[in-house]
Amino acid sequence: MLDGMTGRSGVFRQSYGPFAVVVGASEGLGAAFAQELASRGMDLLLLARRESLLERLAAEIRSHHGVEVRCLPIDVAASDLGQRIEEATRDLEIGSLVYNAAFAPVGPFLERSDEELRRVAAVNMIGPMLFVRRLAPAMCRRGRGAIVLMSSLSGFQGSPRIAAYAASKAFNTILAEGLWGELRDAGLDVVASCAGAIRTPNFAETSQDDAPGTLDPAEVARRTLDGLTRGPRVVPGLLNKIVALLNGRILTRRAAIRLMAANTKDLS
Ligand SMILES: NC(=O)c1ccc[n+]([C@@H]2O[C@H](COP(=O)([O-])OP(=O)(O)OC[C@H]3O[C@@H](n4cnc5c(N)ncnc54)[C@H](OP(=O)(O)O)[C@@H]3O)[C@@H](O)[C@H]2O)c1
Repeated sequence: MLDGMTGRSGVFRQSYGPFAVVVGASEGLGAAFAQELASRGMDLLLLARRESLLERLAAEIRSHHGVEVRCLPIDVAASDLGQRIEEATRDLEIGSLVYNAAFAPVGPFLERSDEELRRVAAVNMIGPMLFVRRLAPAMCRRGRGAIVLMSSLSGFQGSPRIAAYAASKAFNTILAEGLWGELRDAGLDVVASCAGAIRTPNFAETSQDDAPGTLDPAEVARRTLDGLTRGPRVVPGLLNKIVALLNGRILTRRAAIRLMAANTKDLS
């Protein structure tokens, strides 16, 4: 149960609360972020398209952690997203944003439809910018807050068969770095969480086996939130840190792309 404003959860809530917004919270990593944030005493606004999953998670979190949980069914690719965010958050004091939603079409780039490519840009790139643009000003006025943009090791180099998705994740890493530089003097902690493989329902749909270093969603959520003050990048997991070092600093770009291609060739 929530231990009020004392202890670890009290400190977290004072720094980053009272409300956290989790975008893409209905299952997998987003649901794990919601659970982890609630265990740290945060009230929650949960967003995703599937309302029934959101409501089930919200009921579970309320009964386990005693925090306030609100749900908003929404497609973040909607053209009126900015207005919808404003309406949903007007009466809430939001101290944290976790942008977890993503669209990840798999297969040859030349087989992707216009609609898929537009959706990658809308969900993975426009969405995070609009949420930050709407929610960060109030955090800056209060002089405290947290922003997590979910990124990926696939964004450290070109990634064959997930080329558009990986490019959108590189965008999130660089966006988070720029925001870290702009907003730290206003008291905000910003991180790009550059995750390797995570056992989410999405991952299970595209991959037959666990890749080396695959983590559970709860561990990625915990490590990411623990790393909030160590921005601008967090890479959860030791093996993933080694891959990040190899692909980001040691290997040539060509070698890094080949290594990633060996990992993505069996995704379906
Ligand atoms: N899984 C991995 O191996 C892995 C590796 C590295 C990085 N990541 C990153 O970690 C994050 C989560 O990973 P995941 O892809 O495996 O997904 P996930 O955490 O299993 O779920 C994605 C969430 O986003 C929501 N969502 C998707 N499209 C949406 C839309 N248009 N509007 C609103 N909500 C939407 C989904 O809910 P609804 O369907 O109900 O809308 C779901 O709750 C992503 O940012 C991904 O890039 C994942």
